[in-house]
Parts: sequence; C-alpha cells; structure tokens
Amino acid sequence: PASSPTILLLFGATGDLAQRYLFPSLLRLHADCLLPAGLRIRGLALSAHDDAGFAGLLREKLAQAAPDAQAAAIDGLLQRIDYRSVDLSDPAAVAASVADVADQACLSYLSIPPGLYPSTAQGLAQAGALAAPSRLMLEKPIGSDGASADALLTQIATLIEEQRTYRIDHYLGKAAVQNLMALRFGNTLLEAVWNRNYIESVHILVAESGGVDGRSAYYARAGALRDMIQSHILQLLALVAMEPPTSLEADRIRDEKVKVLRSLRPLDPRNAAPLTLRARYAAGHIDGQPVPGYQPPEGTEPETFAAITAHIDNWRWAGVPFHLVTGKRLPRRSTQVVITLKPVSHWLFDSPARGQAQPNHITLQLQPQENIELGLLSSLAGPEWGALQLEPLQLELSVPTGQQRRIAYERLLLDALAGNNALFVRADEVRAAWAWTDSVLAAWQQAGLVMGSYPAGSWGPARAAQFLPPLLAAQARP
Ligand code: BG6
Repeated sequence: PASSPTILLLFGATGDLAQRYLFPSLLRLHADCLLPAGLRIRGLALSAHDDAGFAGLLREKLAQAAPDAQAAAIDGLLQRIDYRSVDLSDPAAVAASVADVADQACLSYLSIPPGLYPSTAQGLAQAGALAAPSRLMLEKPIGSDGASADALLTQIATLIEEQRTYRIDHYLGKAAVQNLMALRFGNTLLEAVWNRNYIESVHILVAESGGVDGRSAYYARAGALRDMIQSHILQLLALVAMEPPTSLEADRIRDEKVKVLRSLRPLDPRNAAPLTLRARYAAGHIDGQPVPGYQPPEGTEPETFAAITAHIDNWRWAGVPFHLVTGKRLPRRSTQVVITLKPVSHWLFDSPARGQAQPNHITLQLQPQENIELGLLSSLAGPEWGALQLEPLQLELSVPTGQQRRIAYERLLLDALAGNNALFVRADEVRAAWAWTDSVLAAWQQAGLVMGSYPAGSWGPARAAQFLPPLLAAQARP
C-alpha cells in the first residue's frame, strides 16, 4: 500500500538491543526477502561515525550475532543502511538528522533510554516525520509508575495518534505466546473448561538463569515487579484470561486484554505479606559454576525475585488465584503457564485415596522449548485385575521441530512495517497495567515488606513454594 514505510529510522543504532537483536533480525528478514524491496534504513545514535565507519562496525557485530549469515545477505542489508550521529536530547538536532527523508513514510523505532523519548519524538514531529502515514515504535519501559507513564503517553499522544504508535512488549512477538490464543479459541476441549467452574488456579512463571549483569543502572531503579511483571507477565495473564475477541482485528483483541487488566484486584497492604514475596539473589551456583550475588547501587532496593497471588474480579475468574512469579538467577530458564483443574466432583477409587491424586493440569511451556503437557489420570499402568488404580498420565504434545519460528523482533518489525498493531500494547493497556502495579508498590511500602534473599541457583526464598507451579514447588522445598 502507498502508506507503507519507505524508511526505517532506527534510534539507538549502536546500542545493545539494536546490535544484538534488531540488526540481526533485519538481516534475516532481508535474507528471506521479507523486507519491502525499496526500504531504506537509517541508524542514528550519539557516536560519531560516517556511513562507512558504521557499516564496518555493523559488519563485525553481525558476524558475531549471525555467524551463519551469507556474505551476500550482509552486503545487501548494508546497502540499505546509512548513519547519522545525533544528540537525542536536542529536538532541533533530531529534526535536522531526518530533514532529508521526513517527507517519506517513516517508521521511527526508539531503542533508546526512555528519558530521551520526549525530545526525540518532538524533533521527529518538528521535521514532519511523524505526520501520517508515518509510524512510531517505542521500546519498553513506558514510565516507571502510573504517573510517569501517563505523562509520557500524554506527551507522545500530542505528536502522533494511537493507531500509528507501536509500543513493544517483545513477549507478544513470540510465536509460543500467540499460540496461547490459538489453543484457547481453536479448541473446544480447552475453552469449555477455561473458567472458575473447572480451574482451581493458574500459575505464570518466567524464570531466568541469567543475572542482572551489565544493566544495573536501569535495573536498580526498576526491579523484577516493574521490569517483568508489569509488562511481560501481565501480557501473558491478559492472553490467558481474556474473553474471546469478536475478531482477530487489533483493537478487538486489545479491547478484551484491557478489560482483564482493569479487573485485576488492587493489592491491599494487609495482604502484602501473605500474598507476595520479594527477594534478591545472593552468591550461589548455576550449573555448578559459582556466581556472585547482586549488589545494587547505594540507595536502591530492587528485588530480583517477585511473586504475587493476583485475583481477577470478573465473572469468569472470581475466586481463582493467579500466581505470578519471576526471578533472575533461578536454576534454569523457563517460561510456563500452568492451569490446574479442580478435582472431580465424586471420587470412586481406593488408590490413590480421595484428595491424594494429582489434579489434572495443562502446562504450556513457552521457553526455552515450546511444549504442551496434559496431565491426566488413568489406570493404564495398573494391574489388569483387582481394584482400579489410578496413575498420572502425562500427554506430551511437543511442537513439531524443524519448523522455523521467527524470533520476536522479526515478527514485530514485519507487523509494524505492515501496519498491524495487534501485537503492540495500546495506551489504555499500559495505564491499566501500571494502575495495578502501583497498588503493589504502594502496598509493599505501606506494609514495610522486608526484602528476602535467596542463593543464586535456587528457586527463590523458602516461601517461594507457595507461589510456584505444583511440580516445581515440590523441587523447591528445602
Ligand atoms: C526484558 C527484561 O524485557 O526481558 C529483562 O528487561 C529480561 O530483564 C528479558 O531478561 C527477558 O526476555 P526473554 O525474551 O529472554 O525471555
């Protein structure tokens, strides 16, 4: 279509995200002929480089990030790219850096510290690079609490309308995350039991074995609640809990997600201690290797582990606890959604005795591998005579391998180029997610919740078992 972007303006082009993910994603899209034929790419950042210097730097980084890439593909991508050095805190400088292309349909991607969003967006607007049909893509985080998010959203909204604003939560770009919708709304078997009548509890876990590493300046002010729960975990929760949308149109999906986020019950400070847990990792071992603890800078108190039992106050989910857990330096990387079903209404069997049987569960393993496991009970393993004896039967529905799954940023770049914002977070979702997150932050403060500690390589402090999915909780108990 005539309105498709003809130039991608990539702000923060020398940064970690751009070098490790965005340019390698663009390379793969280019190699697979998925980028619009005439699309130009301009890298912008503070460092002084000329076009050739930036190309040299990028060539080196791409060789590391995409070692299998064909030289011809790298050359082809580099031919699309030029570079401008610019001070993003100065709107006039930003305007000048894009003046020669501002009359085109631009897709501006801000992969920069959020403090620079306003000045950069102002400069783009001054130059005319946000006028229709141009588009703006923003990385997370949007704000560090409800008030700062609101200020930023309001300011950007004066420069460009919502339909042309693409706020990234890269979890939405993961194929396994989109599969949540496919599974729920494509299968009678699942959707029929997907409510309070059959579901006992839901666990959403995002465990990482990596630590805070080089990002302490940002992380120290954020912590796990703001960094992971406010964004990725609440997005997962919205997809698990939303009502069926009337169609797959972007706003019909986002209408349903925002309703879930608005139904989250604010945390009462009296429940801060029983229903939440926050902790920071101390020295320990990951895969047998010693790793140091995390020492945040003076005056900051970020948690690296956060667990919360949330409730969604609506018709479908009344009374069903949603246990949300995330942590860094846990034993292994694992993102999973576990749906635990209620026991059958009347128990007929002697073995196991009533209440002793493992309940039915549906485990959606999203990372590192995609896998779906259905936990049933059967007598297949029991003897052929005598009383019926039930044993757990795990049905593994592994996702077929050999099928290429595009990494999140490839998918999101393609969607933004195509003008599809279904996988981007709408302003009202950001506000609703912060409103609930603010209630947790305030409850923690009012209750004076103490920061716990856990050795790196463990599943968190001892009380974490209360929040972890049942099978992991069993492993986590000391
Ligand atoms: C980012 C967080 O948004 O997501 C990081 O800021 C976290 O702290 C990362 O490590 C996890 O993403 P993924 O795709 O590796 O699960």
